[in-house]
Amino acid sequence: MADDKNMVGDVYFPAPEVVSAAHISDYDKVHQAATEDLAGFWGKIAAENYEWYKPWETVLDDSNAPFYKWFVNAKVNIIHNALDRHMRTDTRNKAALIFEGEKGDTRVYTYQQLNHEVCKFASVLRSMGIDKGDRVTIYMGRIPELMIAMLACAKIGAMHSVVYGGFSTEALLGRIDDSKSKLLITCDGAWLRGSIIELKHIANEAVDRAGTIQSVICVKRTGHEVKMVSGRDYWYHDLMNLPVADPKAKTEVMDAEDPLFILYTSGTTGKPKAILHTHGGYMVWTSTTLKWVFDIKPEDVWWCAADPGWITGHSYIVYAPLVLGATSFMYEGAPTHPYPDRWWSLVAKYNITILYTAPTAIRGLMRFGRSWPGKHDLSSLRLLGSVGEPINPEAWKWYHRVIGQERCPIMDTWWQTETGGYMITPLPSVPLKPGSATRGFPGIQVDVVDEEGDPVAANEEGYLVIKAPWPGMLRTIFQDPDRYVQQYWSRFAEQGWYLPGDSAKKDEDGYIWVIGRIDDVIKVSGYRLGTAEIESALVSHAAVAEAACIGVPDPNEVKGNIIKAYCILRQGFEPSEKLSMALRDHVGHEMGPIAKPATVEFVDGLPKTRSGKIMRRILKARVMGQDEGDLSTLAD
Ligand code: WTA
Repeated sequence: MADDKNMVGDVYFPAPEVVSAAHISDYDKVHQAATEDLAGFWGKIAAENYEWYKPWETVLDDSNAPFYKWFVNAKVNIIHNALDRHMRTDTRNKAALIFEGEKGDTRVYTYQQLNHEVCKFASVLRSMGIDKGDRVTIYMGRIPELMIAMLACAKIGAMHSVVYGGFSTEALLGRIDDSKSKLLITCDGAWLRGSIIELKHIANEAVDRAGTIQSVICVKRTGHEVKMVSGRDYWYHDLMNLPVADPKAKTEVMDAEDPLFILYTSGTTGKPKAILHTHGGYMVWTSTTLKWVFDIKPEDVWWCAADPGWITGHSYIVYAPLVLGATSFMYEGAPTHPYPDRWWSLVAKYNITILYTAPTAIRGLMRFGRSWPGKHDLSSLRLLGSVGEPINPEAWKWYHRVIGQERCPIMDTWWQTETGGYMITPLPSVPLKPGSATRGFPGIQVDVVDEEGDPVAANEEGYLVIKAPWPGMLRTIFQDPDRYVQQYWSRFAEQGWYLPGDSAKKDEDGYIWVIGRIDDVIKVSGYRLGTAEIESALVSHAAVAEAACIGVPDPNEVKGNIIKAYCILRQGFEPSEKLSMALRDHVGHEMGPIAKPATVEFVDGLPKTRSGKIMRRILKARVMGQDEGDLSTLAD
């Protein structure tokens, strides 16, 4: 097959007009400047691009590492920069959010209209006794009110904890309990593939069992009948019509290091951890990374097709685009509903200029062939993006040829819930290699090292490490600072490096090729799941005594990985196909459909260490037909 335009061998060189138009046309120069004087570099960006109620005394305080502080003693609120300041400029009349529902209903919010709704809802929250520092759980579909709810929390200094709408009762309950949220914001349901996801029903089950929720606010989305508990549950539209819903609400003055939100994510062991981000550093990091990587210009229509319930949506649907004064597009439903060209029809209808999605979505849409995108005019697109898992070169090339029509460079962005924003990523001016996220964002010192921390040879696998702090880094795990240190900073404590938990290779040109997780995190369709949560859902079933889960490559090559579960049954239960189905459904009910194991196998024993820890890597090696490695710690 002939090479794509601008491809020389396996390297894609951006067209000269793309390079010259980009915000950053000389990566090496900017990277060097940031590396030589990290604090000076970020101090300058922070001073020039944002409004602070009070400036900082020090840009970076590393005296208590790894508890780094950025913009020390500055006063700010991300909402001041995302909304308030735009009310004084032309931006107020610009579209902040263009929304299309799965059924085809549309809404457009200008910055002024969005601010109006956020102010009103912020006043409602205050009137319900929500204060600075309180936690509010949000469990909704992909609709504008989800964004309004998050922004209203930030405005009053409350910490939102968004739980992805695809999660179910157990997952929601665990996150409510751990965060001790006082309030839950949800909706009656969400549209997906023409059916209703019963969010309020699931929320009711969780809230009935949760200890801390005092009130529930429910947005009417689907309009079908749902159970509302009198004295506890309120309709959003009723509250927004009360006189307390003040469109002139004040924005809370926050310290730059005050928490903005927590977001639960799966880690190495045990319960999901609440990753904590702050007002100041996160604001600077997310908006600068978006501006440089996706080269945001005033005329762009930016479509980040993630869900606001994950970090990608937090950073790049909700916060960064608004801070930049950009126009975002949001679509509620499934990419294939009612036909496999829904996304492409949306690109054409709204003249989307930048599309950002996950490899799993690209591979899924690729299966339907090029005739579906071929029916639509995709000429508005100028840049494409990928996130969540490594993109295989085949999917990269399809995305590049069929969707980008060989015109649009693909920004493959590697980052994590913990990092707040992009870490390893190209800029539009950087030569690309399909499947590599290229190099560190300016100022990010990234390397691939062995057990001792020595760099491995080119193209050898090793631990991915980040060698210096950055403004958007997580500050801690909420209520668990020891685990923060243990999880991310203990492996290379001597060197003071951050351990993301991924393995990678670095090639001769210094390009990074991320391979995958080295811990018990499984990426299914780009969603981050922990083995521990799935296993605990399995053992909550009466038939299961013990369970272990592993992720293995999806044989159908769509989801990236699939989950395989191994269960030891309790006495009195017999293995059967029916029980296997029942267990899969049970996980679906407790955790959500995305966590359903593809297979459940019944076993008599599981490989364990002498201290009783399940050795999942042995299970995995067996399935994959690989060497089982060091077995010296195996119990028997
Ligand atoms: C993986 C998602 C390869 C990685 C933003 C990381 C990637 C985890 C990429 C974080 C990429 C994310 N190439 N792998 N471009 N982007 N990952 O917290 O394993 O949901 O550690 O954040 O996703 O997942 P999380």
